[in-house]
Amino acid sequence: METKLVSQAIQNIACDALIVGAARSGKSQESKNGAVFFSATKEVDRLLDGLLTSIYANGEFKANPGEITEIYTMGKLVARRVIMVGLGNAETLEGHIFRRAAGIAVRFAQNKGAHTVALALDADASEGLQAAVEGALLGVYHFKKYLTSQSNTLGIESLQFVSKNADSATLQTAFKQGIVMAEATNFARDLVNEQPAVLTPTELANRASAMARQFQLECTILEQPQIAELGMGGLLAVAKGSAEPPRFIILRYRGAPQSTEKEIALVGKGITFDTGGISIKPAAGMESMKGDMGGGAAVIGAMQIIAALKPAINVLGLVPTSENMPDGASYHPGDVLRLMNGKTIEIINTDAEGRLALADALSYAVHEGCSPIIDIATLTGGCVVALGGKRGGLFSNDEDLSAALMTTSATTGEKFWPLPLDDEYAEFIESHIADVKQTGGRYGSAITAAKVLEHFVGEASWAHLDIAGMELVEGRGSFIEPGASGMGARALATFVLQQAKQNEH
Ligand code: BES
Ligand code: ZN
Ligand code: ZN
Repeated sequence: METKLVSQAIQNIACDALIVGAARSGKSQESKNGAVFFSATKEVDRLLDGLLTSIYANGEFKANPGEITEIYTMGKLVARRVIMVGLGNAETLEGHIFRRAAGIAVRFAQNKGAHTVALALDADASEGLQAAVEGALLGVYHFKKYLTSQSNTLGIESLQFVSKNADSATLQTAFKQGIVMAEATNFARDLVNEQPAVLTPTELANRASAMARQFQLECTILEQPQIAELGMGGLLAVAKGSAEPPRFIILRYRGAPQSTEKEIALVGKGITFDTGGISIKPAAGMESMKGDMGGGAAVIGAMQIIAALKPAINVLGLVPTSENMPDGASYHPGDVLRLMNGKTIEIINTDAEGRLALADALSYAVHEGCSPIIDIATLTGGCVVALGGKRGGLFSNDEDLSAALMTTSATTGEKFWPLPLDDEYAEFIESHIADVKQTGGRYGSAITAAKVLEHFVGEASWAHLDIAGMELVEGRGSFIEPGASGMGARALATFVLQQAKQNEH
């Protein structure tokens, strides 16, 4: 697919579908009835003899966020049809509005069979343009690998982004950044969407190292003997029941070789399929556990973005990856494991495998001297219960880091919400026979999982992102296809970019 940033008269843009935006305002001077049309929309309205204004005035279109109206141009514009998409209140137009609107409108055009699409959303601030580019490219993504029919007919061949200032260096940077963000997120989505028989720990490692080669990242894949040598008793125990050996993926980006700042670590849970192991899960919905490497995919995607945009900062990306299977060789509830940092943990439930793999990876990051360390994981059903799968949980031992991640998530539209790590919760995971118990029971289970992880972060500044239930979307009301969301890739990378900018000052 071809993507271009162009400056061209609206009337002459050749495409199957031209997308324009419309907001509304109670206060607006723009129009008596509250419609806020930006320049491209006004121009289309003029060329169509006021048709857009009258559609709005008749109440057929209210400019609600994501609302769509389709109009055939009957030769009054070169574009075959115009798709007007609602942007909601003009007073609250933020990047994420453009991201969603672009995604919804482009998906609509794609479903109508459009092959060439132009977006003239008047997102002329760089944040808005970047968001629109991301939204469009995330919106048209479709995992087609296993479709034998239909797959060849659907598809957008060209996407033009129309701006009055296509020559501006700032807008060109925003445009490029949007493409980089979306492509890496779609790469992460491919990893999550892939079937678990194909995406084994070995395959995940292969795909990460192929990406690393392409983007010139350092990449080391540790195999079982090296994992054992490092004392990663958690990752090894989880892998015991699987015919597939575990891997420990290490990606390294050095954008500031002379820097004295500590290296940032990004750590992602890479369970390529989670059956629960001996504490086996119910059958219903188990297929979604192919997404249990969603945190790992987010880290791999984030490293791709970082490698492409080259900020002046050093970043270590870690993905401990394994299957969790029931077998004669599986680990048991009752086992006591020793993890990489020397601490022991009493196993209660083999379905709480993610924290074990992560604990070893966090220990590795601490051993490497990293700070801050940010981990991301589809960790607990408890987090889905708490936040309803609409936001991820954010835990941190550092208020500044937590605030920075909340700001980042507002920009990228990947939503999180802070949850506590109070000392009181520690009593749930006290063990009589080991340093810590693996699980703390039903209540506050997202929090007790985070409390377990806290044992493995040493003195580092640390944040834990629980994205359970957000790695796969069902589609209703979403600007992306049902399936993998790529949640976290853009947020992690954007955080790193912001850190690099801060270090400059
Ligand atoms: N991978 C699951 C968590 C999960 C749940 C991810 C829903 C995505 C959607 C994790 O390994 C798990 O099974 N956690 C258990 C822990 C419990 C046994 C303490 C849970 O949350 O139920
Ligand atoms: Zn599990
Ligand atoms: Zn899991």
